[in-house]
Amino acid sequence: MTFELIVKGGLLPDGTQADIAISAGRIAAVEPGITAPAREVIDATGKLVSPPLIDCHFHMDATLSYGTPRVNASGTLLEGIALWGELKTLQTRDEIVSRALTYCREAMGKGVLAIRSHVDVTDKSFRTVEALLEVRETIKGKMDLQLVAFPQDGWFRAAGAEAQVIRALDAGVDIVGGIPHGERTMADGAAAVRTACRIAAERGLMVDLHCDETDDPLSRHIETLAAETIAFGLQGRVAGSHLTSMHSMDNYYVSKLIPLIAEARVAAIANPLINITLQGRADTYPKRRGMTRVPELLAAGVNVAFGQDCVMDPWYPLGSGDMLDVAHMGLHVALMTGTEQMNRAFQMITEAPAQVMGLDFGLRPGARGSLVVLDCATPIEALRLRPVRKVVISDGKVVARTTPPAVNADQFA
Ligand code: FE2
Repeated sequence: MTFELIVKGGLLPDGTQADIAISAGRIAAVEPGITAPAREVIDATGKLVSPPLIDCHFHMDATLSYGTPRVNASGTLLEGIALWGELKTLQTRDEIVSRALTYCREAMGKGVLAIRSHVDVTDKSFRTVEALLEVRETIKGKMDLQLVAFPQDGWFRAAGAEAQVIRALDAGVDIVGGIPHGERTMADGAAAVRTACRIAAERGLMVDLHCDETDDPLSRHIETLAAETIAFGLQGRVAGSHLTSMHSMDNYYVSKLIPLIAEARVAAIANPLINITLQGRADTYPKRRGMTRVPELLAAGVNVAFGQDCVMDPWYPLGSGDMLDVAHMGLHVALMTGTEQMNRAFQMITEAPAQVMGLDFGLRPGARGSLVVLDCATPIEALRLRPVRKVVISDGKVVARTTPPAVNADQFA
């Protein structure tokens, strides 16, 4: 038989060397020395071949808008939300589409083949939703885009938000979102969690909430989210994004909470670039780090992924679309510099988010024929160097190639 594509001699993340054959968009074989012919052979000898990088927490309706209509002078989450309130009434549908596609191209060149983006559904013009539905269609077959119906100002705090979430889901947005800590009261927050879970159960959807993105140790909506996940039978379909209040919670309380999260099979999504810059802002010294308890959640068997959250938008002036930057920051903030922990950090931008998003990615026969060849040998080297992604393959098609730059430097005699 003739394969579509063979990637030869690559090193898999576990260090084994194997050829990978792809046929009809799927991985057909992963084994050393495949001799069957292929329409295209890619030499990856000695290079890391990885499953696709994935960003499971992003805001594509705001990306690359930095400075429009002004920059976030204080750098705080609250000014960012206020600034977004201004921007969303000014930006046109075409501008959102154009910025999003520019971003997708950049991210794809860096090996990102799937993104879960929250989309603010509260603007009555609905242009954010319509724009990102168009982007999802445009990039189909190259990148997977999952959209979360996100009421930025809460299900109940903003008039008509609940109806807008339903409208977005009816229009084809994939996932039920929310921001319970943004509601007026803790009781309203709990009600918002319950409503999101009920609607997801009724419609057979997943849930992904911005949950407890605060330094308040008493912000405990994650507890409600885990309990309601069990009550509605949504185990394995729910993610809690941020969970930064867990950083500040009482340790005894957390010793009860983490097993509950594990029991509910709620995934945790930490966003290290944003958590380390937005949380702890009101502290003097010592300043809290603000990221959720990543190693402890992992130790309890919770699926924990890293997301990017923001690139050049009202909340964050930096960001490059490179999930290796995100994992690099994440492992530093979480003090995960042990060998196994660094390998785990790499999985948190590949395997873990694939599980969160329900994607059939992985370097195994039968999985989707999507992979990345990096200009390095191991996952730890990838995190250290954040090297060029030489070849990016999506469902059996090469979608990006980058030639590593030649370095001309004086030699030491
Ligand atoms: Fe977010």
